[in-house]
Amino acid sequence: MKQLPALIDGKPVETTAEVPVEDPSTGEVMAVTADCGPGEIDLAVTAAQTAAASWRRTAVADRARLLRRMSALIERDLDSLGRLEAQQTGKPLRQGLRDAEITVRYFDFYASAVETFYGNSFPLNDTTSVQTMWEPHGVTAHIIPWNYPMQILGRSVAPSLAMGNCVVLKPAEEAPLTALKLAELALEAGFPPGAFNVVPGYGESAGAALTAHPGIGHISFTGSVEVGKIISHAAADLLVPVIMELGGKSPNLVFADADLDRAVPVIVNSILQNGGQTCSAGSRLLVHESIHDDLVARIAEHFRGVRVGPALGDPDLGPLISGPQRDRVVSFVSESGRGGDLLTGGEPLTGGGYGNGYFYAPTLIDNVTPDQRIFHEEVFGPVLAVTTFATHDEAVELANGTDYGLVTGVWTTNVSTAQRMIRDIKAGQVFVNTYGASGGVELPFGGFKQSGYGREKGAEGLRGFAQVKTAIIAS
Ligand code: NAI
Ligand code: MG
Repeated sequence: MKQLPALIDGKPVETTAEVPVEDPSTGEVMAVTADCGPGEIDLAVTAAQTAAASWRRTAVADRARLLRRMSALIERDLDSLGRLEAQQTGKPLRQGLRDAEITVRYFDFYASAVETFYGNSFPLNDTTSVQTMWEPHGVTAHIIPWNYPMQILGRSVAPSLAMGNCVVLKPAEEAPLTALKLAELALEAGFPPGAFNVVPGYGESAGAALTAHPGIGHISFTGSVEVGKIISHAAADLLVPVIMELGGKSPNLVFADADLDRAVPVIVNSILQNGGQTCSAGSRLLVHESIHDDLVARIAEHFRGVRVGPALGDPDLGPLISGPQRDRVVSFVSESGRGGDLLTGGEPLTGGGYGNGYFYAPTLIDNVTPDQRIFHEEVFGPVLAVTTFATHDEAVELANGTDYGLVTGVWTTNVSTAQRMIRDIKAGQVFVNTYGASGGVELPFGGFKQSGYGREKGAEGLRGFAQVKTAIIAS
């Protein structure tokens, strides 16, 4: 199998060592990539520094034009990119295609956003005026995970390039293939060589070398809390700003007056989409005791009807990303002292049509209490934990009762209940009578508490990739 090289300074760079990339639907190696080390990282950061010196001086209109060309090229290649994303991650084909569409939109959105992104100007006194302006950080380092490789690339690389930074991106070792394709498209779009470098490799080597490189001016990280803390320390050593997006244990809160016909399919999708391997997955269901039996029965029925299968067959639910990820889910669900009552699933799906893929059944666990691990730890699998509440106070306490605070869904037809939940819930996004936003390109996104800090997406997302300079001019 030919090694897919890194893309550094517009050129392919091969390495002696390599990283195998599995197709999680079959367990077979579908590609091998370069395995970058400190040497390749240094090449990439140096190339990005050189490119950044002139890229930051490019007119905003010219940067926006290239972002739009990039968007058009992703759209041209939508089918192949969506397929590749589905295959390398195991997500259903239509979700892979959807992720490609959302990536198109990120490049469009940040082209427009940067064109209307201005500083301020105001008189300080009769003889002095002030101007604020946004300047790039220089080289931004992006460490991205395997669950939504293209979307997460889009939401961080597009605003970074738009603001005049140049990028070095280390994709996840499990799913680096679409990032490499997108770096090629950036060259085709006409971005200068060195503006967008992709350095595949392992976290502990390539990732660690990138986040310790003195040539970077900013880090964007999405992944586990554990690695988030390591990277926060690396950022502290370099004294560079960092955006941390670290996942969650997000609840759907269903009140007695909720419209269940509307809520059920959305709640089901919020945990089964991407096999539950979504930072904002709706992995807890907090339900009012008066409707518990009805709601849980309906969800169980949906879970039993889910079509599980290989990604490219476009099932409802594909495999998990890898053997270790499946083992992790198994350990959560089958451990002794798990607690709760297992209503559906609870085991890997093997044999028959499942072959050597990493499939796991949709799993519903009822009567979970806050002292149980499944209530407060991120599983990253198709596993929904159900807990009941009796009062609004209890609902808030349960919703806020984990170390995370990324997203919450509130289901009620009472506007006062909705307002109260928006006020009292500690999470970066609160959805009312809906959950998830199909990419949510326009919506500032990020965590409270252990879910991280900093915001990406939306117009807010540009600010994270820029710093303010203030000019004070006396006449
Ligand atoms: P991870 O946090 O280890 O991987 C994310 C990225 O960080 C990958 O590109 C990886 O190569 C890189 N990385 C790992 N160690 C590094 C280091 N020392 N320095 C620099 N970069 C490093 O996550 P992993 O192991 O893939 O998944 C473990 C758990 O993390 C999942 O089960 C899930 O709970 C959580 N997770 C959350 C994500 C989210 O969207 N917030 C995404 C991926 C994982
Ligand atoms: Mg890891």
